[in-house]
Amino acid sequence: PKPRIVFSGIQPTGTPHLGNFLGALQNWVKLQRDAQPEDDMIFSIVGWHSLTLPQDPKALSIARRDMLAVLLAIGLDPQKSTIFHQDENRHHVELGWLFNCITPMGKLRRMTTWKGRLAASRNANDESEVDESMLNAGLFTYPVLQAADILLYKATHVPVGEDQKQHLELARDIGDTFNRTFGRIFPLPEYVATPTRRVLSLKDPSSKMSKSSPDVSSRILLTDTDTQIKSKIRSAVTDSIREISYDPVSRPGTSNLLTILAACTDEDVSDVAVRYADKGHGALKSDVASAVSDLLREPREEFERLSKDPGYLEQIAKEGAEKAQARSEGTIRKVRKLVGL
Ligand code: ADP
Ligand code: NA
Repeated sequence: PKPRIVFSGIQPTGTPHLGNFLGALQNWVKLQRDAQPEDDMIFSIVGWHSLTLPQDPKALSIARRDMLAVLLAIGLDPQKSTIFHQDENRHHVELGWLFNCITPMGKLRRMTTWKGRLAASRNANDESEVDESMLNAGLFTYPVLQAADILLYKATHVPVGEDQKQHLELARDIGDTFNRTFGRIFPLPEYVATPTRRVLSLKDPSSKMSKSSPDVSSRILLTDTDTQIKSKIRSAVTDSIREISYDPVSRPGTSNLLTILAACTDEDVSDVAVRYADKGHGALKSDVASAVSDLLREPREEFERLSKDPGYLEQIAKEGAEKAQARSEGTIRKVRKLVGL
């Protein structure tokens, strides 16, 4: 098989939670583990994207460093993969700008993420009126920067969640437009369906576990201690049906616990459900807490160790940035030449 160039990114916004880990980051570790020697794995902390929403500069700077520590702590290896800060390789914004200049506004207006933003800013008095004036342009064009992130490395495979599929199609579209307008340079990246596990909020199982929820007990952080994990799982919202069963529609809270347990033990959720049928919520919660503790123990300890070594983290960031720049240098030079700069 042809060597693959795999690219994926994550925003440096706050300590990752169990949902980020089981839904995205754990897949990265598996991809690295299963990669062939000739494959290239590129994992980026996408700082420029986080600025599409207001950020406290001090908090962002900490979150940015913490995210690198987390990626190393969960097992991403700078010897095997390119791990770097997007904002430390200027080629991203260069290519992003160029892509902005060949992307019709109409295409960006069709992005579901943008429509969601618009919907959220609907005039409270007049539902039909959307107020675009309150949304910044970065929020509108960030899918274009994403396309640049991916195509800059001539990525062939992009493992992202279902919610990002439309953005990947846009990246293919932009790459194709560039190829036809200026000359063939970009391979069109393929979407890699990642086994999507949606982890739900422990307090409101009608929504996903998210760092944007103000209730911190609704999510388990990668840095939580065993005591914090136990207490958050124990107070997770379930239901009053005695028997345990997997039924995500009518029993989201209970099913979420089964999903988490199955993910931690790498089992089928239906097998887990059968095993707990007669055991009740108390036993289930207690086992979920232990399983999550076991899963997060090593990453947490490694994160704590790395956090005390900022010099090492800086060194890794520097080497990652140099590696990324070296990889994109030739492409950006060719692209500039093709457009006449
Ligand atoms: P958040 O919603 O907490 O702000 P992000 O939007 O930054 O998280 O998502 C980072 C990555 O983690 C994405 O790949 C996203 O699909 C994944 N992810 C986020 N929340 C969950 C969740 N509750 N369950 C599974 N995956 C999730
Ligand atoms: Na989000």
